[in-house]
Amino acid sequence: MADFGYDVADYCNIDPLFGTLADFDVVLSEAHRRGLKVILDFVPNHTSDQHPWFAESRSARDSAKRDFYIWRDPAPDGGPPNNWISNFGGSAWEYDEQTGQYYYHAFLKEQPDLNWRNPAVRAAMYDVLRFWMRRGVDGFRVDVIWHLMKDPDFRDNPPNPAFQPDQAEIQSFLQVHSADHPDVHGIIAEMRKVVDEFDDRVLIGEIYLPIERLVAYYGEDLSGAHLPFNFQLISAAWHAPQMEALIKEYEAALPEGGWPNWVLGNHDQPRIAARLGEAQARVAAMLLLTLRGTPTLYYGDEIGLPKVEIPPEEVHDPWEKNEPGLGLGRDPQRTPMQWSDAPNAGFSRTKPWLPLSPDWRERNVERMRAERGSILNLYRRLLVYRSEHPALATGAYHSVTTENDVLVYERGSQERRLLVALNFHDEERILNLPAGQTMRIMLSTHLDRDGEVVRGSASLRPNEGLILEPSP
Ligand code: NOJ
Repeated sequence: MADFGYDVADYCNIDPLFGTLADFDVVLSEAHRRGLKVILDFVPNHTSDQHPWFAESRSARDSAKRDFYIWRDPAPDGGPPNNWISNFGGSAWEYDEQTGQYYYHAFLKEQPDLNWRNPAVRAAMYDVLRFWMRRGVDGFRVDVIWHLMKDPDFRDNPPNPAFQPDQAEIQSFLQVHSADHPDVHGIIAEMRKVVDEFDDRVLIGEIYLPIERLVAYYGEDLSGAHLPFNFQLISAAWHAPQMEALIKEYEAALPEGGWPNWVLGNHDQPRIAARLGEAQARVAAMLLLTLRGTPTLYYGDEIGLPKVEIPPEEVHDPWEKNEPGLGLGRDPQRTPMQWSDAPNAGFSRTKPWLPLSPDWRERNVERMRAERGSILNLYRRLLVYRSEHPALATGAYHSVTTENDVLVYERGSQERRLLVALNFHDEERILNLPAGQTMRIMLSTHLDRDGEVVRGSASLRPNEGLILEPSP
C-alpha cells in the first residue's frame, strides 16, 4: 500500500485488507447478475518491492530473477546510471548496497520496474491475465501501459525548455527515452492476443500522450488496446473553439475502425467540479455523454464532489509527501463516495481513510436522488437518454459552429440528427439553430425545459447545455 494498490506483491490474490478471493468471486457474480461488467486495474510496469520476484532479484547479481527487473551499474562517478526522474520526484534509480547496482523505478522506490524485455517476465504476466479472465473478469485497465518499454541504451532524457519551477520534477525532462518506446506496441499486441483467447474481454490502456502518439496504441491493424484512454478532456482549454478543434483532431486521428473514448476524470486528476466549478460540471457531463465513443466517468462526479481539503496530518498520497505544496497530491479526489447521511456517508462502518466533503449531509446519493434538479439526476437522465438514442453512442459526429462561444454539434445519421449546444460561459448566450429550424428541447442541464419548442434560435442560460431534436 505504498501507492495504494499500485504496488502489487501477489498478482493472483486479494490483499487481506480488502478480503479474499472468495469475496472477490461474490463481487464478480453479483455484478454480473445485475448486468454489470467488472474490469480490473492491471499493474504490469512495476511490482511492489515486497514481491517475491524482487526479493530474489535483489539477493544476488546472479540470482535467477535478477533480470526480472532493471539493474544497471553506477555512472563513473558512482551516481545514478542516467538522468531519469521518478514520476513522484527524485531520481528514478535506487542504489542497492548489497549488489552494488542501481534498480530503476518510474514511480516510488518501493515500486521497482519489471524488465519487459525479458520473455520470462512477459510469460508470467500474461498468465496473470489468464488467471483473472478464467475467474470471469471482463477485461483490464492497464496501468501506465506506455511505460512498459524503455530505451535499451538508457540514454539521458533531454531537458524540457518549457519547465516551470511550480511543476512536478518529472516535467523538467522530456520523457523521450524513458517511455513510449516503439517496442511497446509489440508487447501490447501480445497482451491483446492473450485477452483475445477469451470471448468479449476489453483491453484499455492508461496513456498520457498527445493525440498523434496516443492513437498509435490502437496498434497496427488494431492489434493493440481496444481503448487507449483519451484524457484530452482533462487538460482541455474550456472554450468552444478549442474544444471543437480538439474533438475534430481526435476524430480525424483515429485509425480506420478504431473506437473512440473520452475520459472526464480519474483518481489521479482533480475533480471535475474543482476544475470547472459546479455549474460547468453539468455542461461537462453533457459533453462527455454526447460525444462519440465510450465515456469514462469517475465515481463521485455524478454528485459533483468538490476538491476535498486534506489537513496536512491526514495526507496519504506519497506524491504529495515527496513534492509538497505544488498541488500534486491526489487525496482530494480519492475521498469516499457519499451515499447517504448515515455515519461516514454510508460508505463504511468505520472511519474511512480520507475525510468526507464537509457538505456530505446534503451532497449524497440518497438526498440528491430526491432532488429533481440535482446533478445526480442530470447524470441519470443523460445515461438513460444515451441508452435510448444509439445516435449518441455510435452515430457520426458533425461539428456545427462555435458562434458566440457556444459549442454546437450534431450526432446521428442524415435521417435522425440530434443537436447538442453547450454554453461554456457563466452568462447567457444565443444559440442560432442551423437553417433557422424549429426544434424541441429534450434535455437541459438544468432539467427544467423538457419539451420546450424553440424556433430559429434559443437562449442558453449561464452554464446551460441542451440536447435538441428536430420538431415535426
Ligand atoms: C497510474 C495510476 O493511475 C496512479 O494512481 C499510480 O500512482 C501510478 N500509475 C503508478 O502505478
